[in-house]
Amino acid sequence: MSQCLPEAQELQKIFTELGFTTNSPQMCALLQRAYKAARVSDTTVLLQGETGTGKQVLARAIHRLDKKRHSSPFITLHCSTISESLAESELFGHRKGSFSGALTSREGLFQAAKGGTVFLDDVNDLPLRLQPKLLDVLQRAMVRPLGADRELPIDVRVIAAANRPLEPMVQEGTFRADLFHRLNVIRLLLPPLRERSDEIENLILEFARRYASLHECVESLDPDLLEHLRTCRFGGNVRELENAVQRMLFNKTEGKSFTRADWLDQEMTADKDSEFPDELRQATNLLWLAMIKQEISLPDMIRQVEAELLRRALQVPGCKTRRELAKLLHTSERTLYYKISSRGVVNSQRRAAGDEDH
Ligand SMILES: Nc1ncnc2c1ncn2[C@@H]1O[C@H](COP(=O)(O)OP(=O)(O)OP(=O)(O)O)[C@@H](O)[C@H]1O
Ligand SMILES: [Mg+2]
Repeated sequence: MSQCLPEAQELQKIFTELGFTTNSPQMCALLQRAYKAARVSDTTVLLQGETGTGKQVLARAIHRLDKKRHSSPFITLHCSTISESLAESELFGHRKGSFSGALTSREGLFQAAKGGTVFLDDVNDLPLRLQPKLLDVLQRAMVRPLGADRELPIDVRVIAAANRPLEPMVQEGTFRADLFHRLNVIRLLLPPLRERSDEIENLILEFARRYASLHECVESLDPDLLEHLRTCRFGGNVRELENAVQRMLFNKTEGKSFTRADWLDQEMTADKDSEFPDELRQATNLLWLAMIKQEISLPDMIRQVEAELLRRALQVPGCKTRRELAKLLHTSERTLYYKISSRGVVNSQRRAAGDEDH
């Protein structure tokens, strides 16, 4: 197998093109293992690393490099936010009428990812009660949708990500040992950014290119800024660095090099932004770029996003009545009714099922 591996520089290029930038010799062994893992399409991979170290980006890169699975879906299960009551329907699917909100049949996540990859994000947060169910699916490669009378085979690769080491959790009894062993086939450890500070410069320049539309042409870093950054702790790792670069670009008015002053300036705006969660900031960046590119007005953009969120809410199983929907969205029934009717958001399945609430 080893003679089939590309050279270190070629590997760095391949992974950078897939969104995972790295240029330190220390990360070379990780890239080699990730590349080999991608080629073994049925092996489970466990990615371990602190928040923001690139587990999700690396998981996607592995999927894209997987010759057998790359053109099939990559589907993420967010284990930290999964609702225990809806988990089985989400994972395994359900047949129409199998519970009171099941107005139509629905494919579960393992079926939807057919031929591709299921990414178990934050697997360390998977509720203990759901762990044996997941283990059973992984071991037998079969799922039974709720209300179905027979099991269906599944064909997916599983990649799991943990932002805490799982062994101590197994010791404490908060993570099942059998599930841990099932997931821990090929383990890839992503070091925190403070342990690979030789990558900071390259990452900053990569992000400057990625977000060039916020401010053109930043091509270098002043040496005293680099020296300062080598001593930073970066609790949020690469994500923190990426956000800082976006703020620097956004604030920057002139010059082709990032300076220590740019860094201090972005730190001040970061404090103001700290209430704004990362996911929202990233989504807002994308919306902003789309809005500028497509010349959509602000009210139109807000209307489109709201309509799409409502459409998604209408598909949540077990959310049958307007009252349940209003509760899910933390809004009043009256507001919801107005928005759904005025935005042209109609759930045809529910209409067909005669749900007069919508
Ligand atoms: N090596 C890298 N090259 C380029 N971007 C990276 C790299 N590592 C992380 N990032 C960026 O940092 C952000 C966080 O990465 P990612 O979501 O993969 O982290 P994570 O390890 O899954 O974090 P969490 O545990 O919080 O979910 C992403 O926006 C990604 O673009
Ligand atoms: Mg993640």
